[in-house]
Amino acid sequence: MKINKAVIPAAGLGTRFLPATKSSPKEMLPIIDKPAIQYVTEEAVQAGIFSILIITGRGKEAIENYFDVSFELEKILEERGKEEELKIVKEIARMADVFYVRQKEALGLGHAVLCAENWIGKEPFAVFLGDDIIFAETPCIKQMMDIFEEKNKSILGVMDVEREDTSKFGIIEGKKIDESLYEVTEIVEKPEPDESPSTTAVVGRYIFTPRIIDELKNTGKGLGGEIQLTDAIKSLLKKEKVYAYRFKGKRYDIGDKFGFIKATVEIALKREDLRKKFYEYLKELLRKY
Ligand code: UTP
Repeated sequence: MKINKAVIPAAGLGTRFLPATKSSPKEMLPIIDKPAIQYVTEEAVQAGIFSILIITGRGKEAIENYFDVSFELEKILEERGKEEELKIVKEIARMADVFYVRQKEALGLGHAVLCAENWIGKEPFAVFLGDDIIFAETPCIKQMMDIFEEKNKSILGVMDVEREDTSKFGIIEGKKIDESLYEVTEIVEKPEPDESPSTTAVVGRYIFTPRIIDELKNTGKGLGGEIQLTDAIKSLLKKEKVYAYRFKGKRYDIGDKFGFIKATVEIALKREDLRKKFYEYLKELLRKY
């Protein structure tokens, strides 16, 4: 079965990045000159997913404006002969069919995914967290779609984390199938390091069978009083197999201040137009510290 739809929950409050997120969505924080959510959308498009539902909330209008056509801007750029900029601006609005649903209250990631119910219908779908950027030779979600094609079951994107960091993630326990694939046997939301079943953490990429929606409907409030996606996955495990795939690539949590800085610095060092001068600048700067 092919994955044609992606859901990007982007309605969270972004409290780790206050005060910037008081009036602007964290998903719009620019990594150099591109908002985080565009990196995520590009990953979907590169994997052949062109139907995207963004879960938004109050104060997130900037996301809708970003993916809309900007007639005035396009006209001015055209008049001024700024062809390169015009091409970039036009592409954003045309790269995918973007739809929106509002999560009226930030009741948790699970609740945000449940808001996609009517749009999803009975199809399997991908979920991308709007603040998780993953760089990989083959887009992370494409790697997972290849596994899905074979297994036809939900797949969680996972990576290894330090034990001291388990309380920031959903952590899985699983039966190893090969170097990068597990059959999930247990999943726990943000366990303390000494109680965590492993150090294999779920990060912002998922493929779900539509059954997750039924499980979400039956999931009550969990950790932090939020409807947790992890809890719905836990009940899904009892009904059908769920796999965890250790993707090849590097992930940045830009909703975290340090993660945001890491992404900015590393991308600057990779970009043709910035690499040389930024590298020289950093070298010079580091001598002083
Ligand atoms: P996070 O836990 O990283 O987001 O959720 P948050 O709650 O916005 O951030 P902090 O912890 O307060 O800083 C992961 C993703 O799920 C979305 C967020 O927008 C983010 O992309 N989310 C979270 C929702 O869409 N709705 C929610 O109710 C909660």
